[in-house]
Amino acid sequence: MRTQVGIIGAGPAGLLLGHLLHLAGIDNVVIEARSRQYVEERIRAGVLEQNTVDLLREAGVGQRMDKEGLAHDGVELLFDGTRHRIDFPSLTGGRRIVVYGQHEVVKDLIAARLALDLPLYFEAADALIERFEGDSAAIGFVHEGKKIQLECDFIAGCDGFHGIARQAMPGALDAVFERIYPFAWLGILAHAAPSTDELIYARHAEGFALFSMRSPQITRLYLQCTPDEDLSLWPDERIWEALDRRLGTADGWRPTRGEIMQKGVTPMRSFVCEKMHHGRLYLAGDAAHIVPPTGAKGMNLAVADVRHLARSLARYFDHGDEAGLESYSQTCLKRIWRAEHFSWWMTSMLHRFEDVEPFAARIQESELRYVVSSEAGSRVLAENYVGLPFSD
Ligand code: APR
Ligand code: PHB
Repeated sequence: MRTQVGIIGAGPAGLLLGHLLHLAGIDNVVIEARSRQYVEERIRAGVLEQNTVDLLREAGVGQRMDKEGLAHDGVELLFDGTRHRIDFPSLTGGRRIVVYGQHEVVKDLIAARLALDLPLYFEAADALIERFEGDSAAIGFVHEGKKIQLECDFIAGCDGFHGIARQAMPGALDAVFERIYPFAWLGILAHAAPSTDELIYARHAEGFALFSMRSPQITRLYLQCTPDEDLSLWPDERIWEALDRRLGTADGWRPTRGEIMQKGVTPMRSFVCEKMHHGRLYLAGDAAHIVPPTGAKGMNLAVADVRHLARSLARYFDHGDEAGLESYSQTCLKRIWRAEHFSWWMTSMLHRFEDVEPFAARIQESELRYVVSSEAGSRVLAENYVGLPFSD
């Protein structure tokens, strides 16, 4: 089998890249280790920044997002028992976010791909990057018991943090910058109408909490916990009580309770592999970088990478212009490090750090007060949260 771009991974990065390449007239094949049901039901974060919303619309895959997504004009920061709202449009020239689950984006992209009859192999086993230096590239994999050899011009490693593409990248290990945090998030999805309209990021003596949502019927909530937290020690009642303490306000507001449909622990890590391309192999999304979820940047960064990769590949195939491909890592890394800083900053400002000296705790409190009381401070949060505009 032959194609122009072989894409490993059908997460948001791989699927959107495939769609953008198709729109640019570039043939591509997507292979995915898991089943369609698995990737469509995998619950992840759900905040789309303005750039992501605009790009999905431009690419013709934004209809359901526009119908079912929840447009938000701000978030709230809760500390010392008081909520403070950060208004996005007034601080960012009219930009906002849309709350729409990542797996919904994945469903929309899969539906678009199948409607166009473009190749997408689920349950592709034993994927192997066979060649990516020299004149051409190749991926081998097994599908329905048959070995398939995919010959291509380029390979896009969109296979997430645990994929094979970064491992195949020469020099990747020496290009890694990483921080692992001493805490995680215990996340739940509850069948409960969100009892307020916007997200609440809470700093509390017991630890961080986040109030979010997925739809007018579903609330998404998180609690700071330990990285090896044992979920069996968290019966529903204990979760709701902790959420009430951390998110409740003096006026009696509490998150509305409901049946807990899903519980899970999300580890917190900052990770960048600065070597994002070599020969004919390009990494995009979680394959190259991870952010802690506090800034809601994970999927948005993946989208920014593949936007740039699709445009660079189009310039190459249409005009033989290699400039975009040659500077791929360098260009992506500017936005990646901005998001790494923002996610680290939000994480540092809002979480409880064990054994932190009193000095550092006071600094944390002072920073939060500054962010909510100064227009300059609020704007730093707002413009990073809605996403800085693309510069090209
Ligand atoms: N062969 C084929 N597919 C693979 C392989 C492999 N060897 N290894 C991994 N994959 C698939 C995974 O099963 C997964 O579906 O690659 C896909 C990678 O998707 P994601 O993990 O969703 O990564 P990405 O598309 O970069 O999206 C980034 O995901 O983790 C969140 O918060 C993160 O929002 C961000 C987004
Ligand atoms: C979510 O709704 O899952 C969510 C929202 C904001 C975050 C992280 C996760 O910062």
